[in-house]
This record gives sequence, structure tokens and C-alpha cells, in this order.
Amino acid sequence: MPQKKIPSIWPIEAHTKAKHQILEEYLKAWFPIIGRWANRIVYLDGFAGPGEYKEGEDGSPIIAIKTAIEHTMLKPTTEITFGFIEKDKERSDNLREILKERFEIPKNINIQVENSEFEDTLSKTLNGLEEKGAKLAPTFAFLDPFGYSDFPMELIKRLLSYEKCEVLITFMTGFVNRFLDPSHEEAITKLYGTNEFLEAKKIENTEKRIDYLLKLYENKLKENGGVKYVRSFEMVGKDNNVVYHLIFGTKHWKGLEVMKKVMLKVDSRGMYSFSDRMGFNQTFFVNIREGNEWMPDAAQLIFKEFKRQSVTVNEIQKFVITDTPYLFKKEILKFLEKTDNPKIISVSKRKNKTLSYPDGCTITFSKE
Ligand SMILES: C[S@@+](CC[C@H](N)C(=O)[O-])C[C@H]1O[C@@H](n2cnc3c(N)ncnc32)[C@H](O)[C@@H]1O
Repeated sequence: MPQKKIPSIWPIEAHTKAKHQILEEYLKAWFPIIGRWANRIVYLDGFAGPGEYKEGEDGSPIIAIKTAIEHTMLKPTTEITFGFIEKDKERSDNLREILKERFEIPKNINIQVENSEFEDTLSKTLNGLEEKGAKLAPTFAFLDPFGYSDFPMELIKRLLSYEKCEVLITFMTGFVNRFLDPSHEEAITKLYGTNEFLEAKKIENTEKRIDYLLKLYENKLKENGGVKYVRSFEMVGKDNNVVYHLIFGTKHWKGLEVMKKVMLKVDSRGMYSFSDRMGFNQTFFVNIREGNEWMPDAAQLIFKEFKRQSVTVNEIQKFVITDTPYLFKKEILKFLEKTDNPKIISVSKRKNKTLSYPDGCTITFSKE
């Protein structure tokens, strides 16, 4: 793929900061949640970079280690293995140096920096596990390449075949869209694990074509990788074009809930999008964290799904997380119940007449 030569350490861009914020906030929750029950955790950064940016800003490996070390909720007995893979020697050396200078690593943390190719290194690791019939410890894999090659779907599928594995992938939708020509077909076929992406060539509208390319990748992750839930966050560059999508895949809806909260922190409009042009002061038309303008839409979606039925509050929560752009709040149920034409007609386990929805209660929706 034609690429400009990028120096060993390069300036950080606004969308990278947004990406790092998403990574950090998610790991703040992930390490303690997994650490509560697992004795071993693996954090894998497949395209680790040099560990820092031009003005000294932290790179993703440093962000991950800091988050683990500074987290007081983590048991000191939980063993955490950090695997950092970086193909460029100068960058991997730089990363090793920074790690040595900056951290006194606690005994429960084991760090490996590999100067190698992601595909090769992960394949060997998985071959080793398969030969022994061993399981992979709960793993969070951050795959953040410059382009779209070197992380074939075949390999992602093997990684995600392990039960407690989640991925956060920088998917270069903009590049894939630009390189839809015969000379890149082989590489893009490896990326998707299929040549179905060729259909995208028939779509004239750029936005729709990009959407098709994204959705196809999300679907392939679900089909091949077996992740049940996928959520993407769009990164838009200064020229207002989509640069990439940050795609998160998990098998657990609670993991998706945490990631949605994190993504909505970075983009409180609820659009799951960040634009370099507007930076962190984007103008919001729906502020999903502060206002309630989004609530009627969320309420309508719930009612459409559950009218005429009795369901638990937990099922409603799961539906909102997995099938709508919103987060679940009990206020949405109040909104459905306190109108002139109440959509909720009864709630079990209620001790008094207030609009409460106790955990485990069953909610019955009206017919119309
Ligand atoms: C976008 S940068 C990573 C930035 C880093 N994750 C961060 O957020 O600070 C991508 C890195 O992947 C490295 N790289 C490119 N191809 C690779 C491969 N096949 N295997 C491992 N590393 C690779 C590049 O040298 C580059 O440092």
C-alpha cells in the first residue's frame, strides 16, 4: 500500500487523543471487572508504536500500563501480561526505553515487547496454545495499524475463538474505500476473509459505500470471530472525511454497556463520532449525557419492542444497550408511564405507588 514515510515518533492528532481517551476509560473499567474473578489477564497491543508522540504525549502502551498500575481496585495477586508487538526496531527500542525509565513494574505485571510482525507473532502464540490444548486468559486486544493489511480475518477469528477475548480495532475505512482497485484486492480479501467487499464498488455515494464497508467488516467479525456485540466509533479528519472507525467487539452485553458509556463520554451527542475539525468542543444537538431530548426516541424504541408483553427490567436494559444507540436509565420507563396515555400498565415488586422499577421487577406494556 503506498504510504508516506512516517518518522519513528510523530506528532499526535486530535482523533488519536480521542482514541486514547476511549482506550483509557474502557481499561479503567475492564481491568478491575476482569481482575475480580480472573487470576490472569492479557493485554495485547498488536501495533504498539514507540510509546510516545512528538511532544511527549503517551502512546497506547503507556496508557494501558499506567491504567493498570494506578488502579487501586485491582487485586495485587492478579497477574497481568502485557504483550506489545511492534515491527519497527527504532520504535520498539524506544518503547522499551520509556518503559524502563518511567515505571517500576510491580511483581504481578509481566511486560513483553516484541520487535516483530503482529500476524507472525500472534499466529505462533496461538499455535503454541492449540498444541498444548491450553486456553487463553481473558484478553483485551488493541489492534491499531496504520493501514488495513497485516491483521487478516483468519487470525482475528482464531483469537476471538477464545471465550473471554475482546477486540478494539482501528479499521481504516477511508483507506479501504480509496483502494478498491484490483491491485489491492488480495490484501482487502485477507482483511475481510471474503471478497464480498467488491460489491461496494457498485455504490456511488461515498457515505453509503463507507457504511457498507464498515457494516460488512462488523458482520464478518460477528460471523467469523463469534463476537456477539459490535459498536463502532467514527473518526473524522480535518477535511471532514472519515479516516477510520474504532470497532469494538465483545461477547458480553455488559462489556458493550461499558464501551457505550465510554464512547458517549468522548462524543456526548450520541453520534459515536469524533471530528478533528471540531475537536473536543464539538457542537452538540443532542447531548445524551446532560439533556433528556433523546429520551422520547429511546422510549419509543422500547415500546415498539415490548408492547403487549411482560418483560423483566433486565431484559429492557439489555435491549437498550444492544439494539439502540442509547444507554439505559430508569427515567426512560418513567417517561413511558407518566404520560396521559401510559404505555406501562403494571410493575411487579413495587412497594408503594411511586414510579419505581425495582431490580428484577417485571414490567407489563400496554397494547397501543
Ligand atoms: C498507528 S501506529 C500505533 C500507535 C499506537 N497504538 C498508539 O496509539 O500510541 C501503528 C504502528 O504499527 C507498526 N506496525 C506496522 N505494521 C506492523 C506489523 N505488521 N506488525 C507490528 N507492528 C506493525 C508501525 O511501525 C507503527 O508504529
